[in-house]
Amino acid sequence: MRLDRAAALSGLTRSEAKKAIAAGRVRVDGQVVRDCAARVEPAQVRVDGLEPPGTGELYIMVNKPAGVVTATEDSRWPTVVQLLPENLRRRGLGPVGRLDRDVTGLVLLTTDGQLAHRLISPKWKAEKLYRAECAGRLGEAEVQAFAAGVALSDFTARPARLVIRAAGEEASTADVALTEGKFHQVKRMFEAVGHPLTSLERLSIGGVALDAALARGAWRPLEAAEVARLKALCDME
Ligand code: URA
Repeated sequence: MRLDRAAALSGLTRSEAKKAIAAGRVRVDGQVVRDCAARVEPAQVRVDGLEPPGTGELYIMVNKPAGVVTATEDSRWPTVVQLLPENLRRRGLGPVGRLDRDVTGLVLLTTDGQLAHRLISPKWKAEKLYRAECAGRLGEAEVQAFAAGVALSDFTARPARLVIRAAGEEASTADVALTEGKFHQVKRMFEAVGHPLTSLERLSIGGVALDAALARGAWRPLEAAEVARLKALCDME
């Protein structure tokens, strides 16, 4: 089959497939091929490194910029799904949990509903790691408060690990690891201990780290080992 036709099987129109080929987004048996007329075996063609539709679930990481909402559609704001190329937007990907609009960093998108559900369910205890910058000097008192479980107006947060990276009179930076993710939870926990956040970035989910090579707004498929790690954590195969 011609390469442009085989690439279009990934959900692209023929002209989108031609553009993707010209842009070097299409590989045949691992090699970038830019000749639309090349004869290929469709099963060996990968657009953006992803399996063609019908061959399994999709797992993607996005480095979410501020100003983008974690949703598939929104009438006011750009969505994380709009950070993906056209063909991927049509493949039923949904975000695993949410980050607030002003929060940056790792968002996972998948078609695998069971994994998505388990990664956000407190029952499976998948750890979410955040880098937080806050007002004022953090110290041992805050580390202890997080470890004990911060009391909020409507619930007490589970014990969380707070690791201070820099503490100054005006501002501090810390990493915080949670195994739950209620609405505005990290912001509320810092607020409750008297250190309102000035910025928040998610660094990892279930031990899968935001790829340092991904610019804000960029994405990539998860590697097989990353998917396996998440599934093992959630008792899936
Ligand atoms: N905690 C927050 O406050 N906001 C997020 O987006 C994620 C965790």
